[in-house]
Amino acid sequence: MSVVAVDRVVSAAQAVLDGEHAARRSGVVVRSLDTQEEFDQARSVWDTVWPLPPGGTEITAHLMRALHHAGGYVSGAYVDGAMIASCLGFVGRSQDADGTWHTHLHSHVAGALPGYGDRGIGTALKLHQRGWALERDFDRIEWTFDPLVRRNARLNLMKLGGVAVDYVADFYGDMTDGLNVGDPSDRFILRWDIASQRVADALSGAVTAPAREELVALGAEETLHVNPDGELIVLPATSPVRLVAVPEDIIAIRKADPGLASRWRLALREAVEPVVGKGGRVVAQTVEGDYVMEVSS
Ligand SMILES: CC(C)(COP(=O)(O)OP(=O)(O)OC[C@H]1O[C@@H](n2cnc3c(N)ncnc32)[C@H](O)[C@@H]1OP(=O)(O)O)[C@@H](O)C(=O)NCCC(=O)NCCS
Repeated sequence: MSVVAVDRVVSAAQAVLDGEHAARRSGVVVRSLDTQEEFDQARSVWDTVWPLPPGGTEITAHLMRALHHAGGYVSGAYVDGAMIASCLGFVGRSQDADGTWHTHLHSHVAGALPGYGDRGIGTALKLHQRGWALERDFDRIEWTFDPLVRRNARLNLMKLGGVAVDYVADFYGDMTDGLNVGDPSDRFILRWDIASQRVADALSGAVTAPAREELVALGAEETLHVNPDGELIVLPATSPVRLVAVPEDIIAIRKADPGLASRWRLALREAVEPVVGKGGRVVAQTVEGDYVMEVSS
């Protein structure tokens, strides 16, 4: 496999240990899956997290078998012997800025059953995946995430140290599952250089979220702002660092006020897509939940 080295400061053995520690901290055991029965359990976790119209399933156990056979990653997290979260990734290729091809793991899905959020299980799954990937000579994992989901932004940018390197409007087309239905499926492409210093720093807990006011005092401009009566305002900006507001809980807004959810989608797209489309990056999240976006120089 041809892999372009970034800065490799972490060994595969260390990454595997990091994964085991994260699992212990969140009270789960994470392991790779390889039987048809386990694949069916993983499928059932995802179909519970993303409820589909009757008869639908996100990924069949047959497809999982094929992706696994072709060098893909499938894992489950267990509490008291029961699978409560699972993750799937397959081999991907992408082109770096200089045109060279880079092999990475594309992580397609990671979900924890309702009631198991916010206790580090997502981190434990991703760190298991990182150890697995480094052992197989990958140095990068990529995945998509909905820019409006603030929890995932915190996990991906701040806890794991990933960087959003692209914004794709309506990436999946129409989606029918209970979390996404009715909203265009815009996604960030997240890049996670798993052996890099940036990622090691994030995982060590050394990186804390900056406060909005602190960045504004340093010259950052707010380019998506929520005014006191809740109106979303996209502002012109010229600074190299820009702040983009993100709703606290878009899933609840989609259920309670689909019109407001659509306004969020379009406003965030307007603020972010042109900048990231020209090489800008989303690198962090403030304490208040805004994206910190760097413009390409
Ligand atoms: C994505 C998912 C697997 C993450 O798992 P998790 O166990 O909740 O993740 P973690 O606990 O490791 O990290 C979540 C972080 O977000 C924080 N968070 C939660 N809600 C937040 C919000 N509204 N704003 C900012 N941060 C938030 C949590 O406090 C936690 O950070 P902390 O550990 O610093 O306190 C899980 O939330 C899930 O299954 N979601 C539904 C499916 C999904 O969206 N999957 C991802 C796309 S494939």
